[in-house]
Amino acid sequence: MKAAVMRANNAPLEIEDLTIDSPGPGEVLLKTSASGICHSDLHVIEGGLPMPPPCVLGHEPAGIVEEVGAGVTDFAPGDHVIGCLTSWCGVCKFCTGGRPYLCPTQFAGRPPEAKPRLATSGGDPIFQFANLSSFAEKMLCPERSLVKIRDDMPLDRASLIGCGVTTGLGAALNTVDIPAGASVVVIGCGGVGLSAIQGARITGAGKIIAVDSQAWKFDIARQCGATDCIDASAGDAVSAVHDLTGGGADFVFECIGLVPTVQQAVGMTGRGGTTVLVGVVPVTEMVPISAADLTLQEKKITGSYMGSNRFRFDMPKYIEFYLDGRLHLDEMISSRIPLDDVNDALDLMRKGEAARQVIVFD
Ligand SMILES: NC(=O)c1ccc[n+]([C@@H]2O[C@H](COP(=O)([O-])OP(=O)(O)OC[C@H]3O[C@@H](n4cnc5c(N)ncnc54)[C@H](O)[C@@H]3O)[C@@H](O)[C@H]2O)c1
Ligand SMILES: [Zn+2]
Ligand SMILES: [Zn+2]
Repeated sequence: MKAAVMRANNAPLEIEDLTIDSPGPGEVLLKTSASGICHSDLHVIEGGLPMPPPCVLGHEPAGIVEEVGAGVTDFAPGDHVIGCLTSWCGVCKFCTGGRPYLCPTQFAGRPPEAKPRLATSGGDPIFQFANLSSFAEKMLCPERSLVKIRDDMPLDRASLIGCGVTTGLGAALNTVDIPAGASVVVIGCGGVGLSAIQGARITGAGKIIAVDSQAWKFDIARQCGATDCIDASAGDAVSAVHDLTGGGADFVFECIGLVPTVQQAVGMTGRGGTTVLVGVVPVTEMVPISAADLTLQEKKITGSYMGSNRFRFDMPKYIEFYLDGRLHLDEMISSRIPLDDVNDALDLMRKGEAARQVIVFD
């Protein structure tokens, strides 16, 4: 099967012919139908999220089940599914405590002594990213990385729910509790930020202020629910937020992952407000912030991982939101591309010149 392989950091992905194993116990073989491209894939390529090459990236997939391994009871050939990187074990304190997205075993693939799921035609193992590796025509996943969805949901739009939508929507719906009428800022209008804007709208937030340095994204942000937009390249976005909100917002979602925009997010947060860090700052970087600013104004900062999801519960619900018109996915897709064009798509993402790009397979 054809796959895009990361052979080294900061180099183009190589399109190669790989082998994929048959499903073992608890595993499911899928035909990949579509895979969104998330900035976390780019972070891995650039080294900000360390993963060992050679590796197949891609973690925002939808597909169709081809074959199931021994003991798989939740899926059958022909099922339409979404894949999610927060696989869960079901028995640890996070899983049993209701926060399976924090399960520490989520990236554990097959045991090291087992045959690898992915390999070159010569048998050399290829690392599978997050049990998914969706920049490939087929995927071999644990059943607990998958959720079955309605057959009438278009699979290209369903793929977005696999990461970006679940992350942004869930940050607003699950990680924090936004009262109706609260003021919300979302910094970064990529797939994640546009989804956070939609989450804020769905919870009934008041002002929803979108911030980005690419003003062309504001049409999409408004369609997603933004009431106001601030061009970060045109002046001081922090004081613009203070002007619009009368002293700072109740909730600020940072959806980029840069040191300066995390600092801006804290600065945009008003007295008693909450800063939600969704963007992934490269693991090598630290963010200086004023502790006194937090103490004296009782601001809170929280991280939000994968939209604090319970994806077998959340994703079918998000599909209902799409089908009943509340969740706008068509507007978020700036292009559908073949796998061969993945490097061009990553370049567009680097430059901020795309919203969500989706790889579609025949
Ligand atoms: N917390 C999680 O679980 C989780 C899950 C998925 C993705 N992420 C992270 O979320 C972040 C966003 O992902 P994405 O796929 O939406 O990315 P993206 O590249 O599609 O979007 C980023 C947006 O930020 C804008 N931008 C860049 N620099 C800016 C600046 N200085 N000021 C204002 N706007 C700026 C770009 O124009 C773009 O619209 C990434 O860091 C990604 O790794 C986190
Ligand atoms: Zn992602
Ligand atoms: Zn667990």
